[in-house]
Amino acid sequence: MTDTKASLSLEGLDAPIELPIYSGSVGPKVIDVGALTSKGYFTYDPGFVSTASCESKITYIDGGAGLLMHRGYPIEVLAEKSEYLESCYLLLHGELPSKEEYAHFKNVITNHTMVHESITRFFKGFHYDSHPMAMMCGIVGALSAFYHDATDITNPKHRLISAHRLIAKMPTLAAMCYKHSQGQPFMYPNNKLGYAENFLHMMFGTPCDDAKVNPVIARAMDKIFLLHADHEQNASTSTVRLSGSSGANPFACIAAGIATLWGPAHGGANEAVLSMLEEIGDVENIDKYVAKAKDKSDPFRLMGFGHRVYKNFDPRAKVMKETCDEVLKELGLENDPLLNIAKKLEKIALEDEYFIEKKLYPNVDFYSGIIMKAIGIPTDMFTVIFATGRTVGWIAHWHEMLSEPLKIGRPRQLYTGYDKREFTDIDARPAVNPPHLP
Ligand code: SDX
Repeated sequence: MTDTKASLSLEGLDAPIELPIYSGSVGPKVIDVGALTSKGYFTYDPGFVSTASCESKITYIDGGAGLLMHRGYPIEVLAEKSEYLESCYLLLHGELPSKEEYAHFKNVITNHTMVHESITRFFKGFHYDSHPMAMMCGIVGALSAFYHDATDITNPKHRLISAHRLIAKMPTLAAMCYKHSQGQPFMYPNNKLGYAENFLHMMFGTPCDDAKVNPVIARAMDKIFLLHADHEQNASTSTVRLSGSSGANPFACIAAGIATLWGPAHGGANEAVLSMLEEIGDVENIDKYVAKAKDKSDPFRLMGFGHRVYKNFDPRAKVMKETCDEVLKELGLENDPLLNIAKKLEKIALEDEYFIEKKLYPNVDFYSGIIMKAIGIPTDMFTVIFATGRTVGWIAHWHEMLSEPLKIGRPRQLYTGYDKREFTDIDARPAVNPPHLP
């Protein structure tokens, strides 16, 4: 990082504070504000809109240009030329694998796909209609009860074993959530199948038949995992980093990431997009909903639109839209009513002054739900699929953070509460009428 300096003059200080400025390899420079604390100041940035929480080499987004790259490779190139597990290797290790390295990595992941048989008993505690994200939060966190052979987070080998276990087991657990909701028996992973193919086998296969997975659908599923793999310091990745900074075990950190992803403003948006399209119901109603989205007094937002970083098309949305067309064509659903509403909504929104002025474009969640619905994945499983794909990004950031000396994350605040005051015994407190009984 090349050093220049910012000079900050503050009232009451007889000399300006010199703050180092660091440059990355691409993207905005950063100002190191550490020196402010000793002068009695904190920076203030609710929502971390302008705050770089860490240094990272994994993923870079240029929101204005609609660019997303993993270790320097644009997402559209990886989506076309790579596959999910190869991109997992890239995210974890920083380089594309050689043929031998990739064969070994695939073999390691494949041989970690089974979960401890005791895990099956955890599902018995959930009602069949429990939200699968609730099940995933609980069960992924509980994995830390099973793996005591790789708990030294300062040991890179231990960290990689945990990374392999999580990447390998997430599809198995995701499929178990679905099977539990259907009252069907769990399907064991089949080591002869590819990663996405194996997931669909565990989702839709039954012990009664050996139905083959449609290769077009398997490739689409693999692309969905790949497009969700990582995305810089988004809310759930930041949660995983903050959890990991306390020294918590990787399974607990990933469970925290799953919990954060669940929110409709984040990974829950794909489920919310489908609900929104179903609520719109007909292309005739689109204008009414676009007007609601623009109405400040109406909390309704166009789910699947807008992004904190992208002020241009989310490059993942473009690939997702192509994949959506491929899947619907393969399944003979080109005239899917929800797809028609989505395409018309996208066209209207992109031509609307409000969305143009606020730079609101479709994001990764806008089309993914339509693909997953067409494949037969229920809406409440959409964010589980997102979490499954994003696990490699979460664990790659956790691994990267822990390759440096551990430093717990501990933000400060602007305090606007009471200053110190005397305690009044209850008998001496005046009556309040009517009493404040929330
Ligand atoms: C993901 O961070 C990541 O990288 C996340 C993610 C990842 O891969 O990890 O990319 C995955 O979470 C994608 C985003 C999925 N969420 C949605 O689709 C939900 C709908 N989108 C919005 O809630 C919103 O756009 C956010 C949360 C995504 C971004 O919100 P910001 O950056 O905090 O922006 P904002 O809420 O301040 O909005 C700016 C303006 C506001 O109007 P003003 O107050 O300036 O007048 O744009 C408006 C908003 O009202 N706006 C929308 C809108 N999104 C923003 N208006 C209508 N519909 C929308 N979808």
